[in-house]
Amino acid sequence: MNILITGGAGFIGSNLIDFLLDNTNYNIISIDNFDNFYSKKHKLDNIKNQFNYKNFKFYEIDITNKDILFAKLTENYDVIIHLAAKAGVRPSILNPIAYIKTNVEGTQNILDLAKSRKTKKVISASSSSIYGDIEQFPWNEGISNFNPISPYAVSKIAGENLGKVFSNLYNIQYVALRFFTVYGPRQRPDLAIRKFIDSIEKNKTISLFGDGTSSRDYTYIDDILSGVVACLDYEKKSFDVFNLGNNYSVSLFNLVKTIEQVLNKKAKIEFLPFQKGDLKHTLSNISKANIELNYAPQTSLKEGIEKFYNWYKQANNAK
Ligand SMILES: NC(=O)c1ccc[n+]([C@@H]2O[C@H](COP(=O)([O-])OP(=O)(O)OC[C@H]3O[C@@H](n4cnc5c(N)ncnc54)[C@H](O)[C@@H]3O)[C@@H](O)[C@H]2O)c1
Repeated sequence: MNILITGGAGFIGSNLIDFLLDNTNYNIISIDNFDNFYSKKHKLDNIKNQFNYKNFKFYEIDITNKDILFAKLTENYDVIIHLAAKAGVRPSILNPIAYIKTNVEGTQNILDLAKSRKTKKVISASSSSIYGDIEQFPWNEGISNFNPISPYAVSKIAGENLGKVFSNLYNIQYVALRFFTVYGPRQRPDLAIRKFIDSIEKNKTISLFGDGTSSRDYTYIDDILSGVVACLDYEKKSFDVFNLGNNYSVSLFNLVKTIEQVLNKKAKIEFLPFQKGDLKHTLSNISKANIELNYAPQTSLKEGIEKFYNWYKQANNAK
């Protein structure tokens, strides 16, 4: 089976590819443009061992460049796992057009590619942020009155809708996965757990936006991967969406407390105003993924932070 993975050098993509290379014989074709949202060096480190596998290929391609995308990716792909995106809520407020270009136009290019490369299934990264500012917790997939508060969230809603239209028009399956704050080894440097651990290790002050009561449904990378991989066998509907979260929300205060316990070190904290575009709370209902994909996250926050911290120490020692 040929699987094309976009955004393959990023946090989730590179972990997914490691998992597939270690546990299957699928041919993995990975693409990424090393977007400058964070350093190319991090991404090259993420994928360096993948070149040891004969069933792995990598292309540096920007999904917004349709001509190059089509010229370089000439094989047929049974499945496309589309993870490439401009990620991050706050920067999307500063540069909305870049988010629309990659997350909307780029997604449409991937759909066009799927159509011409005889693809049977597209699995695509959506986000918890699409629910937006609605207080009907826990959020389930039946909610349709989204109230997005960032261009990033809007770009992800558009991606889902393009996928729905595409699956209706061409009878190619499209499954959107709404990830809830993913963390673990290789986590993006802009995300809280990595940022906090890095600052505490370096005796720097950490910035908490708001009063510490905002909360997130943190999901460990291995649990997310189990949901993504389960989609490879999911065939029930030609368009579907699933929440992949942990079904458990943790306040910012408790996140910092857990990190302090794992590091055995006190954080120096400064409070800053709540940021525009950030949601106050997120919380997933994961019953649908549980029933259809047998999705059942296993990793507690403390355990996940311990695993992240072990990776972080190793990665820093290797420098
Ligand atoms: N990490 C999370 O908590 C989270 C939560 C919800 C949704 N998501 C979604 O999951 C996916 C993966 O996120 P991640 O955390 O691994 O982010 P990431 O930034 O580490 O990975 C995304 C990858 O896409 C690549 N990319 C960006 N623009 C591209 C383009 N134009 N052409 C080709 N490649 C491009 C980047 O270089 C990067 O390697 C994204 O779609 C993101 O929106 C992530």
